[in-house]
Amino acid sequence: MRTLLTFSFSLLFCSLVWSGYLEYDQDVLIPEDWTQVGRVDPTEELELTFALKQQNVDLLEKTLKLVSDPDSAHYGKHLTLEEVSSLVRPSDLTQKVVRRWLQSHGITNCLTVHTQDFLQCTVTAEVAETLLAGSKFHRYTRDGQTLVRSSAPYSVNDDVHQHLDFVGGLHRLPPKGQDLIRGSAHKRSKERLHLGVTPTVLRTRYNMTAADVGTAQNNSQAVAQFLEQYYSPADLSEFMRMYGQSFQHQSQVDRVIGTQGAGKAGLEASLDIEYIMSTGANISTWFFTNPGRHESQEPFLQWMVLLSNMSDLPWVHTISYGDDEDSLSAAYMMRINAEFMKAGVRGISLLFASGDSGAGCKHLGGGQNSFRPSFPASSPYVTTVGGTSFKNPFKVTYEVTDYISGGGFSNVFKMPDYQASAVEAYLKTVAATLPPQSYYNASGRAYPDLAALSDNYWVVSNRVPIPWVSGTSASTPVVGGMLSLINDQRLLKGLPALGFLNPRLYKLRGQALFDVTEGCHLSCLDEKVQGNGFCASPSWDPVTGWGTPNYPELLAALLAE
Ligand SMILES: *[C@@H]1O[C@H](CO)[C@@H](O)[C@H](O)[C@H]1NC(C)=O
Ligand SMILES: *[C@@H]1O[C@H](CO)[C@@H](O)[C@H](O)[C@H]1NC(C)=O
Ligand SMILES: *[C@@H]1O[C@H](CO)[C@@H](O)[C@H](O)[C@H]1NC(C)=O
Ligand SMILES: *[C@@H]1O[C@H](CO)[C@@H](O)[C@H](O)[C@H]1NC(C)=O
Ligand SMILES: *[C@@H]1O[C@H](CO)[C@@H](O)[C@H](O)[C@H]1NC(C)=O
Repeated sequence: MRTLLTFSFSLLFCSLVWSGYLEYDQDVLIPEDWTQVGRVDPTEELELTFALKQQNVDLLEKTLKLVSDPDSAHYGKHLTLEEVSSLVRPSDLTQKVVRRWLQSHGITNCLTVHTQDFLQCTVTAEVAETLLAGSKFHRYTRDGQTLVRSSAPYSVNDDVHQHLDFVGGLHRLPPKGQDLIRGSAHKRSKERLHLGVTPTVLRTRYNMTAADVGTAQNNSQAVAQFLEQYYSPADLSEFMRMYGQSFQHQSQVDRVIGTQGAGKAGLEASLDIEYIMSTGANISTWFFTNPGRHESQEPFLQWMVLLSNMSDLPWVHTISYGDDEDSLSAAYMMRINAEFMKAGVRGISLLFASGDSGAGCKHLGGGQNSFRPSFPASSPYVTTVGGTSFKNPFKVTYEVTDYISGGGFSNVFKMPDYQASAVEAYLKTVAATLPPQSYYNASGRAYPDLAALSDNYWVVSNRVPIPWVSGTSASTPVVGGMLSLINDQRLLKGLPALGFLNPRLYKLRGQALFDVTEGCHLSCLDEKVQGNGFCASPSWDPVTGWGTPNYPELLAALLAE
């Protein structure tokens, strides 16, 4: 239903007023789990984020390719924030036109960022609705959280249209947290009983020794999450006391950026921080949480804005955030991609969870379905991490597909060069058993890029060890911590950080990774695919990517130059 309505809206805009709408294809319908609690008072203040058109985005992309390709003479020649700024900073004309437009509506209290491509302004609802024709701000609530969004699409004047990518703070809603506890939700058969994944189990499986901990000065790593959750320092130290005996580690987060909420510690936040600090042991760790908590802000976007304003950042970030690709405007996704490239050219590695719905499922109407890729997992400029489980749940054995592992093909981004031969080989090898072609777009960016265990973790939350915690938001910090350790060794050798990993990862062609070849992930429960999306196969596949890290081999492979 949601999809059909959005579609007809877009048609209307295309024919009538195409030019004024920056995000004509953005889903503006509010999901039913949010309750509208009334119009926002005209005098109430909102925070809007204006994404100004950048310069040289093509050059930015070329630069990213060069500094991330191990065969290029420019490999590792990362840019400073200053240099990124001189590359992409909006033209004087763009800055002047946008500021003049805002000033003409009495908006003068805007903050900018180092790269000058975002403006963050406080405006009253009344002014916002005049500035952004069509917008209508309401307050919504879900599970005690409230936010302000527009129930209708916005447009801008023709004269500023070409100077803006989009305006943030009107539409996108925070995703609902995943149901991370799987075992307890279903009837636990004897078979599902498992001793569970702990740091020791992970370090054993991935061949990490007690010596594999961070030692470099000024190496650091970060997790970012946006679910109105906070991690508890007491839980973290309790977790490390219980599970961290076999390796040197830190038991405290070095920096918290953003606002830690009140109330209970979140399971997701605990999971992320406890596990990145278990593989990326003894490495300084930062926690980014809901940066910018005004009701009208989009937390993920605020995090991106923040990255453009901080010259000193950790080298590795793992992020648990994702949305259906088809719910987001192309303008928004393109611009977020440019933000990923800005991070990549600085040598920062961004790792996103591939999602917990397998290939996903979108109901097209008339009994037709298709898979449903998720963004940013589907972005060509990030490294996406899928999930696995142990073949024998009682032992540290080889890994098979975790059926929830997100994966598939983007409908928006074309397949990047670095993965073309790997994906082609997959499509050819498994041609006879692929899902029907109408379910996915084989010319799109395929993901995930690699994987790690995502099933049956132990997490300490609110002082209690909790079993059965599962999801690709577990595998992502596990891989992130390992990349941080590799960065650590690189920094000690005077080499640059890994930065955007994919071009180099795909050149390994699976070397240094445990190939995952068994199992399929979930998708649509219909007659044609009967719940199955794609299946793992030898070499790369859109379920577990290249497989899971064999740490000592991956270290050796990524430590050369
Ligand atoms: C970016 O940082 C500068 C100080 O370094 C600050 O003045 C400015 O307000 C920040 N911008 C935003 C959007 O927070
Ligand atoms: C790593 O782990 C695998 C599987 O557990 C094992 O076969 C291998 O010998 C280990 N060592 C190295 C250096 O790969
Ligand atoms: C842990 O890291 C610190 C630097 O942050 C270093 O001095 C120390 O030697 C490291 N511990 C081990 C066991 O390597
Ligand atoms: C590097 O070290 C300096 C000085 O100790 C510190 O202020 C800064 O936050 C560190 N940077 C990172 C990214 O960890
Ligand atoms: C398939 O993906 C390509 C880019 O990868 C895109 O141009 C095309 O529109 C997509 N097709 C569909 C049906 O979504």
